[in-house]
Amino acid sequence: MTENFLKRYSFNIAANDFINAGKASSAIKGNLKSMGINAHIVRRIAIISYEAEINIVIHSLGGQLHCDLYHDRIVITSNDVGPGINDIEMAMTEGFSTAPESVRELGFGAGMGLPNMKKYSDDFKITSGSNGTEIVITIFL
Ligand SMILES: Nc1ncnc2c1ncn2[C@@H]1O[C@H](COP(=O)(O)OP(=O)(O)OP(=O)(O)O)[C@@H](O)[C@H]1O
Ligand SMILES: [Mg+2]
Repeated sequence: MTENFLKRYSFNIAANDFINAGKASSAIKGNLKSMGINAHIVRRIAIISYEAEINIVIHSLGGQLHCDLYHDRIVITSNDVGPGINDIEMAMTEGFSTAPESVRELGFGAGMGLPNMKKYSDDFKITSGSNGTEIVITIFL
C-alpha cells in the first residue's frame, strides 16, 4: 500500500469548534486542486472530507482527518476519540441523526453525512467502538 505513496495532508479537528469547522476539508480541496487533480474527483473528496470533519466536530470528542495521495488513488481517513456508533447500519440510513437541537439550529443533522460519504466513495470502510470511530475512504484516480 505504501509503494506509490506521494503525500499526506493531516489536520486535527476539535470537538464543538464550529468556528473552524470546514477548514480542514477546504484546505484538502485547495491542495488537491492546486496539484491538478481532476475537478470532479476534487468535488467528491471535498464533500466526503467535509462530512467526515463535521461529524468529528459534532459527534466526537475530537480527532484527525488525513488525505493520502497515491499515484492511482486518494484515501481519506477520519479518526476520532468519542462515544462511537452503536448501530452502524442505522447510522448509515438516510435521515437517521442523533444531532441535538442546538446543532440542528446551525443547519446540521439531516442524517445525510454518512450516506453521502459512501455514495461519493469507491470504497468505504467504517469501524466504531466505545472509544471512537475510524472511517477509511478510497477514491480511485
Ligand atoms: N464520528 C462519529 N462519532 C460518533 N457518532 C457518529 C459519528 N459520525 C456519525 N455518527 C452518528 O451517526 C449518525 C448519522 O451521521 P450522519 O453524518 O449521516 O448524520 P448527521 O451528522 O446526524 O447529520 P448531517 O451529516 O446530515 O448534518 C449521527 O447522527 C451520529 O449519531
Ligand atoms: Mg454528519
